[in-house]
Amino acid sequence: MVKVNFIRDKETLSVDMPVGRTIMEAAKELDLPEIPADCGGCQACGTCHVYIDDVWCDKLKIKEDSLEQSLLEYEQGYIPGKSRLACQIQLDDSLNNVTVKLRKNELL
Ligand code: FES
Repeated sequence: MVKVNFIRDKETLSVDMPVGRTIMEAAKELDLPEIPADCGGCQACGTCHVYIDDVWCDKLKIKEDSLEQSLLEYEQGYIPGKSRLACQIQLDDSLNNVTVKLRKNELL
């Protein structure tokens, strides 16, 4: 299992997920309203946009010129080097304890 942490303001929400699942699926497991993941993980909606915690940024760099990057660049609040689509981060043992910050969802 891989532990995934989500930071919301000063609160940390955690869940253990099997290897091979994604950070978006971890968010769904916790029923986090900040990540509606409307497209179900096919890189079409951008609603799974999260910020990678500083410690993990090097390991979770986005692929340049990828579909993910081109989608994120049009997202409000895009931060180069920190923004990722949670549905595109597949969990493996090396990501145990990975931490991402939730964005504010204006619809909440
Ligand atoms: Fe739609 Fe990630 S769930 S882009």
